[in-house]
Amino acid sequence: MSDRLARVLTTLVLTLGLGLGLSACGSAAEDAASTTPGQDNAEMTLKEIMVGLGEDSARVGDGIWVEDFEAISVAAEAIAKHPLVSDAERTSIQGVLGEDMPNFAKGDKAVHDTAMAMSEAAKAQDMALVLARNAQLQSECVACHTNFRDRLADR
Ligand code: HEC
Repeated sequence: MSDRLARVLTTLVLTLGLGLGLSACGSAAEDAASTTPGQDNAEMTLKEIMVGLGEDSARVGDGIWVEDFEAISVAAEAIAKHPLVSDAERTSIQGVLGEDMPNFAKGDKAVHDTAMAMSEAAKAQDMALVLARNAQLQSECVACHTNFRDRLADR
């Protein structure tokens, strides 16, 4: 996405307080644009975003097996900067989770931070650190599924 659009989206997200779960990170405007298609699509359902995260995670795995640090870095950054949910989806999630919304947002933030750290580790070609971050990331993904998947999938 363009820097300007990224800034507008970031501001929008910050304005909405929590970022309501699936927020773009504050540094999205400064960092290089992701190469993953759909990154600038702000009208997605949670499920569509999750399918993308699953694909990007598979790319991380493939990159690890062939020691392609560039591919790992790009895929990790795509995870960190996943698209935003649509306004309607955000309202729907909020309606189901109510007071748990901040915890949902925290889970999203944890994944964001760990994915960025994994991208940095890949740029530094530090495989041990990539593996450690990947394990951390997976447990953070699963933690959110354990806490929220049933409630949100049954909407
Ligand atoms: C903030 C909470 C949260 C985080 C963090 C999270 N997920 Fe999810 N994920 C969900 C929820 C909720 C669903 C169920 C959505 C639905 O069915 O509508 C889901 C579903 C999925 C699905 C199944 C999609 C389908 O076709 O049914 C995949 C794959 C997935 N997530 C991958 C990931 C990966 C990979 C990560 C980490 C990089 C991750 N998720 C992190 C909340 C989260």
